[in-house]
Amino acid sequence: MNDAERDELIRSALDAQKRAFCPYSNFPVGAALRTASGRIFQGVNVENASFGLTICAERVAASAAIAVVSRTGVSPCGACRQFLAEFNPKLPIVMIDSLQPGVIHEATLAELLP
Ligand code: THU
Repeated sequence: MNDAERDELIRSALDAQKRAFCPYSNFPVGAALRTASGRIFQGVNVENASFGLTICAERVAASAAIAVVSRTGVSPCGACRQFLAEFNPKLPIVMIDSLQPGVIHEATLAELLP
């Protein structure tokens, strides 16, 4: 990594830090990750009322590059529901079985986490 690339990464992490979700610690953290192809992914810490579900900025930056599909169209696990509930109980969740992609199951978060 040359100096210009390092400075770009630092600027990106500083920019991300402004969007941290940290109402419990009030300790915003920003992160920036550069992939081998040069693309930059940003991350911030995302806290949760159940503090163990908080994820650090570094892992969020890494998660930004992950997509998940399942063979059975699973619904989110309890921890994921609790994590998402921090933001929007009306959040629509669409669950797709990759073997039957035309069959759409949809529920709100409130329905999954009464
Ligand atoms: N935190 C990070 O995001 N990354 C670190 O490397 C250290 C800690 C977050 C987690 C929590 O939201 C807050 O900082 C206080 O620990």
